[in-house]
Amino acid sequence: MSKIKVKQLSVSYGNHEVLKNISLEIPERQIIAVIGPSGCGKTTLLKSMNRLLELNEDVAVSGDIYIDGTSIYHAETDVTCLRKKVGFLPQHPYPLPMSIYENVAFGPRIHGLDIAKTVSAFSKEGGGRKEKKREMDLLVEHYLSLAGLWEEVKDRLHAPAAKLSIGQQQRLALARVLSVEPEIILADEPTSALDPISAKLVETQFKILKQNYTIIFVTHILRQARRLADYIIFLYMGDLVEHELASQFFTEPRDKKTKDYITGEIS
Ligand SMILES: Nc1ncnc2c1ncn2[C@@H]1O[C@H](COP(=O)(O)OP(=O)(O)O)[C@@H](O)[C@H]1O
Ligand SMILES: [Mg+2]
Repeated sequence: MSKIKVKQLSVSYGNHEVLKNISLEIPERQIIAVIGPSGCGKTTLLKSMNRLLELNEDVAVSGDIYIDGTSIYHAETDVTCLRKKVGFLPQHPYPLPMSIYENVAFGPRIHGLDIAKTVSAFSKEGGGRKEKKREMDLLVEHYLSLAGLWEEVKDRLHAPAAKLSIGQQQRLALARVLSVEPEIILADEPTSALDPISAKLVETQFKILKQNYTIIFVTHILRQARRLADYIIFLYMGDLVEHELASQFFTEPRDKKTKDYITGEIS
């Protein structure tokens, strides 16, 4: 069964329809790139998957999205729960005005996660009576490691997060997304504000994380989609042009628009 099923999704801002009757399925534990020219609806599609769109006034969504077979637009959907399961990594990191450590500890605390249980799932130091603080230390280390940041910050965990470079802040943002145990990670141009080396570090983490997470990211860099993605969703002016295995998409595009886009005829 696919992880996410988008069914006849249309989205308008006021009377401007920006996604037009999109239907597609997304398999789990893969990396999916959403590509297309600026303004074609990539961010809108991403935000529709954890109902972030409704933070905008004047937005109308029709159709539905199913995650693990359950409608997320159903009236009884618990939106907080949904956004925990489907994390969102924005283009620019906005660390909380607190320490590196507290940035990671914050999510599990406010969601009231069972920290002891999470820690025992990954910690080799099983058994014994671990005190609460030690558990949180292990948790923070775990997520900073998953985000590829631990080695760089382990000696200054209590320094303000704002002191980190932008590249490090973006990996801290990734650690925060991971810290509430999502299953799906939505990332909107997650490396576009970063230098090439930091961008590479984020890409490397994505490749590792896809073993356990479904990662859907927006990029306008075709080379990045080629490097990272297993599947491509190609949008053009609100239409879904192609939804295809990356290997197929780049070597044997079905649609003329895809051909024109990957050869640079249209942009
Ligand atoms: N909050 C909003 N209110 C009105 N129009 C919007 C809003 N957000 C995006 N749009 C418009 O919707 C279209 C698609 O936007 P977006 O999904 O951000 O595209 P992309 O991420 O591909 O650049 C654009 O024409 C954009 O101007
Ligand atoms: Mg966008």
